[in-house]
Parts: sequence; structure tokens; C-alpha cells
Amino acid sequence: MLPEGVRVTASCAIYLFDALQYMVLIVVDICCIVLCRGAFKIRGASNSIFALDDIQAAKGVVTHSSGNHAAAVALAAKLRGIPAYIVIPENAPACKVENVNRYGGQVIWSDVTMESRESTAKKVQEETGAILIHPFNDKYTISGQGTVCLELLEQVPEIDTIIVPISGGGLISGVALAAKGINPSIRVLAAEPKGADDSAQSKAAGRIIKLPATNTIADGLRAFLGDLTWPVVRDLVDDVIVVDDNAIVDAMKMCYETLKVAVEPSGAIGLAAALSDEFKESSVWHESSKIGIIVSGGNVDLRVLWESLCK
Ligand SMILES: Cc1ncc(COP(=O)(O)O)c(C=O)c1O
Repeated sequence: MLPEGVRVTASCAIYLFDALQYMVLIVVDICCIVLCRGAFKIRGASNSIFALDDIQAAKGVVTHSSGNHAAAVALAAKLRGIPAYIVIPENAPACKVENVNRYGGQVIWSDVTMESRESTAKKVQEETGAILIHPFNDKYTISGQGTVCLELLEQVPEIDTIIVPISGGGLISGVALAAKGINPSIRVLAAEPKGADDSAQSKAAGRIIKLPATNTIADGLRAFLGDLTWPVVRDLVDDVIVVDDNAIVDAMKMCYETLKVAVEPSGAIGLAAALSDEFKESSVWHESSKIGIIVSGGNVDLRVLWESLCK
């Protein structure tokens, strides 16, 4: 359930041919990026928060996130008229923290590790009685994120391959469940940064792999799969394409120059994957005729962007 006013209307589908030398469809989640503070996360956050009954909602909500989910929870809680306690790791980009403040979320800092984020959120839960809104490992979050795929297939039913950024796997789980539910032959591919390639490693190992450390410019893609997202990724995601940070920066440049859209590294990675040699040499590429790439977020720290573009 997405509340009125938060309901994102349609993704913006832009066909690119000249720049890529082949036909792909860049699916910019434009309403979320432009109107709802920069990312698809408002879909899952509002679906979760508006599913709470009044007694559950009264004590507020809590979450931990490096940014986009944090702002989305703050915004959805504001719309519901309840408090939002947001645990943010100390290395989160400044622009994402500002978005939380703008929506009246109460920021609580944690260390960068997932353990610290989770234990800080648990402490807030115990102290306030707030309900945890998980960034990806939750059925309402997953189904909310899946609405981007429903909108895409409404607009372009003939799509045969969808490339989706992956971190904790909430977005791609929603997309895969929606896509395969509508048409089981649609391929769903994950795009993942080399410095945080736990999903590719998990698929290869047949179990959840958690990395001791991550290192990538894509700050939204550093989480690991959860027990709800892993089975969906294992069974419904056809493959994971791993790309390095240079390829992500090149894709970001292309989004600015060709699409005229501000896209953050985590949001541009699907385009980087589509442009990669690994993908173009794969049998999937030869079998695909209409590829949709989900461009998922636009919250970019201008200083970091400038430094990356100038390298
Ligand atoms: C812009 C952006 N794209 C993609 C993702 C990946 O989402 P998920 O954790 O659901 O895989 C994130 C996660 O924070 C994100 O911020």
C-alpha cells in the first residue's frame, strides 16, 4: 500500500541507442528521484509504515541506513504523523543526512559496521517501543520496492531483461517477484560493485556470504543479503554482473551527459553493468532484445562527485 501523495506515478522510460550502440531502456525512477528526495526507497518505507495499525504506529518507527532508506522512513513517518528514529553510520554522505533532518527524523549515530547499526537500532527500539522498518529484509519493504517493476511492465510489457542494483536485495527481490509473477521468462540480473560483491559470492557458494569489509564508491550498496532476500536472490535472480568503481563513474557521467539526470553511484551501476564487456559477451546479452535498467537513486554528494569526475 502506497499512500496518496507518496504514490509514485510512473517511471520515466528513456530509450538509448546511439550512445550504447544497441537498444536498451533506461528506467529512471524519476518521481522518486525528483519528488521524493532521491530514491526508490520511499516505495518500501511508505508501504511498511502505512501497513502498521494505529497502536503499533503510535510509538514511532526506527531504522538503520546509510542514507536513502533513512530519508524515506523519515518522510513516510512525517506523512503518517509519527516519530522516526534514524540510526545512521558515521560515514554516510552529508546530503543523505540532510534529507533525514529535513523531514524531521531524529538522527542517532552508529559505527559503520552492520553489527553497530543493528545493535544501536535495537537499543532505540527497547527504549522507545518504536517499530523497526528494515531497509530490505521485510515483506512490506520488498513488495513496496517491487512497484517500480509493476510500473515498468505496465509501460513496456515486452521487456525481456531487467538489470537492478543489489545491496541487501530488497529492491531486486521485489522486482524479481513482480517480474517473474507476471512473466516467468523475464530475466532479472543484479548489478553489484566489485568492492562489495557478496551477492555474486553468495550465488556461487549457495549460501549467504558476508564480507569482512567493503570498499566502493557506491555507498548504498554495502549491505549483505538477509534471510528473506537471499532465497529470492538465489532462486529468481538469474545472474550477478560485477563492475568496478571506474565503470560506475563512467556510467554516472553518461547519465549526466546523455540523460540529463543526477544519478548517484549506486543508482548508475545498472547502466555500468549493461555497458560492461562481461555482459556484452554473455549469452544473455545476445538473447535479449529489450533490456530495462533500473536507475534507482540520485542523492549524490557534490564534493565526492566532483572528485570522481575529475579523476
Ligand atoms: C540508490 C540505491 N540503489 C539500490 C540500492 C539497493 O537496494 P537493496 O538494499 O534493496 O538491494 C540502494 C540501497 O540503499 C540504494 O540506495
